[in-house]
Amino acid sequence: MNILILGSGGREHSLAWATNQNPKCDTLYCAPGNAGIALIATCVELDIENGSDVVAFCTSHEIEFVIIGPESPLAMGVADDLREANILTFGPSAAAAQLEASKAFTKEICDASNAPTARYARFTELNLAINYVTNQGAPIVVKADGLAAGKGVIVAMTVDEAIDGLHDIFGGAFGAAGTEVVIEEFMEGEEASFFVLSDGKNILSIGTAQDHKRAYDNDQGPNTGGMGAYSPAPVMTNEVTSKALNEIVQPTIDEMARRGTPYQGVLYAGFMIKDGNPRLVEYNVRFGDPECQVLMMRLGAQALDAMLACAMGELDKIRLNWAEDHALTIVYAAKGYPSTYKKGTQIKGLELIDESSRVQVFHAGTELDTTKVRTTGGRVLSITARGASLKEARNKAYATIEKIDWEDGFYRNDIGWRAL
Ligand code: AMP
Ligand code: GLY
Repeated sequence: MNILILGSGGREHSLAWATNQNPKCDTLYCAPGNAGIALIATCVELDIENGSDVVAFCTSHEIEFVIIGPESPLAMGVADDLREANILTFGPSAAAAQLEASKAFTKEICDASNAPTARYARFTELNLAINYVTNQGAPIVVKADGLAAGKGVIVAMTVDEAIDGLHDIFGGAFGAAGTEVVIEEFMEGEEASFFVLSDGKNILSIGTAQDHKRAYDNDQGPNTGGMGAYSPAPVMTNEVTSKALNEIVQPTIDEMARRGTPYQGVLYAGFMIKDGNPRLVEYNVRFGDPECQVLMMRLGAQALDAMLACAMGELDKIRLNWAEDHALTIVYAAKGYPSTYKKGTQIKGLELIDESSRVQVFHAGTELDTTKVRTTGGRVLSITARGASLKEARNKAYATIEKIDWEDGFYRNDIGWRAL
């Protein structure tokens, strides 16, 4: 079949890599893609947030399956437009994508299904919100309700910080995402992510992961989209995972179905785990980046079978083969990321890397300038390796990244420290 992937990050490169290995895949397209994806798929210019443009492309190129990578096309209803045109699609409807697009919506779902999460209150007026944080005291967490490119959350250690955050949000720092705020109890514990596919009814676990949000070693520096990840996450023991499934994830899927907005696609649940008990921090309605890279490295070609079964409502027919393996990815970012950084710098040495089912260099912010690979973004590459142990995967990933010659890049040297 002809398949189209929407997106341009390391996440989409890893999805393309797994998809392309499956014999079911004939021609693979990616919009807009990047220099790495261009080696295994046909990259096309397309406004991926415009449902009618995406449908028109699918019709003219006989696309039979679409995998939607990022959240914004999902929140804009691109999956709805594709399904209406009878094109098999992996990714939730706009109504179900509210699980990421509105933090208040997720809290309502938790309330309706009794799922453990932080206590909270919602506000649309600055003064009432300030009174609330003043009464509650710190630490406390202030969140813009809507999509804010991962930036709308302030984990405030003092009441003043929380009030500053409220002024920013209601002052328009996150645009329409900040017309409402959710203020939450601060939860202590260890964070981990859990990924499941759901076809609206059935659930298939596809792995756990932990990421590294801060830019520099020892969890110092500013928050980023993620500087590295590994799978599995040791804190997600069988016991914690089954609590997470039974108390949080399955009730969410059931509640979405009950409301007539079944959830179909990957659900990425972020948990805070303390004393063996998971509580929900947030949902995302897409794969994480760079978490997807480690999941795809472990799943390989069977990821496509699982995504297809998910889109067809036949997830109960899928059994995944798990090796007792570990994967780890290191993000190579442009110096200055996540604030300002140079674009257009050249990366050398990529041709020296021997890629295999155990080592892959996934591209994110890259483009091909005739034969040269140049940077176009902040997170540029994610170097991913698999091994029989996490240590082996880590050593392989670091040995690989050292071969890359890129003066303007930096990476963390301690990915995986918590698990090692
Ligand atoms: P979110 O975008 O909701 O995932 O929040 C971003 C990050 O803020 C999370 O990964 C946590 O590290 C932190 N965070 C969010 N909510 C809470 C909370 N209620 N308690 C403690 N930390 C939180
Ligand atoms: N790595 C975090 C995310 O994709 O949201």
